[in-house]
Amino acid sequence: MTIYRGTVLDTPESPFTGGVLRVEADAGIAVTDGVITHRGPFAQVRAANPDAEVVEMTGGVVLPGLVDTHVHFPQVRVIGALGMPLLDWLDRCALPEEAKMADADYARTVAAEFVDGLIRAGTTTALVFGAHFAPAVDCLFEQAAAGGLRVSAGLVVSDRLLRPELLTTPEQAHADGLALAGRWHRKDRLRYAVTPRFSLSTSDAMLESCAELLSDVDGALFTSHVNENTAEVDTVRGLFPTCDSYVDTYGRHRLLGRRSVLAHNVHPDDAELDQLAAAGASVAHCPSSNSALGSGLFPLRRHVERGVRVALGTDVGAGTSFSLLREGLQSYFMQALLGADGLPLTAAHMLYLATAAGAAALEMDSEIGDLSVGKQFDAVWVDPDPGSTLGLVLAHAADSDDALAKVFALAGPSDVRGVWVSGDRLR
Ligand code: GUN
Ligand code: ZN
Repeated sequence: MTIYRGTVLDTPESPFTGGVLRVEADAGIAVTDGVITHRGPFAQVRAANPDAEVVEMTGGVVLPGLVDTHVHFPQVRVIGALGMPLLDWLDRCALPEEAKMADADYARTVAAEFVDGLIRAGTTTALVFGAHFAPAVDCLFEQAAAGGLRVSAGLVVSDRLLRPELLTTPEQAHADGLALAGRWHRKDRLRYAVTPRFSLSTSDAMLESCAELLSDVDGALFTSHVNENTAEVDTVRGLFPTCDSYVDTYGRHRLLGRRSVLAHNVHPDDAELDQLAAAGASVAHCPSSNSALGSGLFPLRRHVERGVRVALGTDVGAGTSFSLLREGLQSYFMQALLGADGLPLTAAHMLYLATAAGAAALEMDSEIGDLSVGKQFDAVWVDPDPGSTLGLVLAHAADSDDALAKVFALAGPSDVRGVWVSGDRLR
């Protein structure tokens, strides 16, 4: 057994439905075989377990491991290419880089950089857009396993309107997906995710092959993009004249359920929100990407009011960093900019979106998302240099909500001093 000692902040109940930030100063969290067996005041937990090893995290704050519900592994090296809307950025930046993943050695190097980037940012679980090439997806799973991360990912598939080397057929997509899932699905911390790039680049036949794969791989996730950019939405609506909407292009093919995560949804109509809510599907809100590509201001209030589950994604490389703390802050900014249409966020909302909401979106909330007894010890210790601006403002925080707001405002990967998954220290 190990006892972790620190100031622990988490959100076991959603602040969107009345939950508040749970604060335990000088807490003790007892962990055996990766699972939290006891938590309470440190002195009490210590007295009950006098022989346990103690890991002291007395400065800063301990948070649940961060959950990134939308991030692209082959795009690490194109982060920060600003100045283009979605479809130009894909053609000029993202897809030329993704074509390089045909070279497995190149893919392995980038996969290692990617996993390292996630861990440095305090991310312990991610739903990852893989690559269009199966050997590159193997590299991603290998690196995730070596790094100890929880990763769900899959082969990205498309059969139209992208550069030709990124295209495949529905039959090949199904065969490759099944083989990859056979190698990696439910191996330790890994899961398979069926991943059509977006309806713009996938025919009905390809979406149908995705539906077959989803039913063939028990417990697999489904992920794609939706309603990100108005030019994209217009194109998709033209390509699927018999569908009611962009969301319906996936719904028609039985691809919407409780393990489905669609990125963006910046421009939904009410019927689309109702369809997502009825299916129990989640939306990965990616605020830095939406800002960088000028995609729009995410209608969080409408999602919440219509019962759609929402979590956060970095969307690297359109998103500008691996840090979910920065995404939380950016989501706050964007809701503030929406004025009366926005949903004012507190620090507890930001933490919930970056942790428990992501765990729920990936159907992992029975295991991770907060630091309650019975959950895995997935945690991040944020502890700035005392002389840094964050160190200074934390020392003068009014209370724990205020301290957490300061963490979101100022913390970055350099303030992440420890990262654990199931009690294994990754950093
Ligand atoms: N839509 C289809 N592919 C992508 C991608 O790589 N990034 C983003 N942001 N949107 C997409
Ligand atoms: Zn994306």
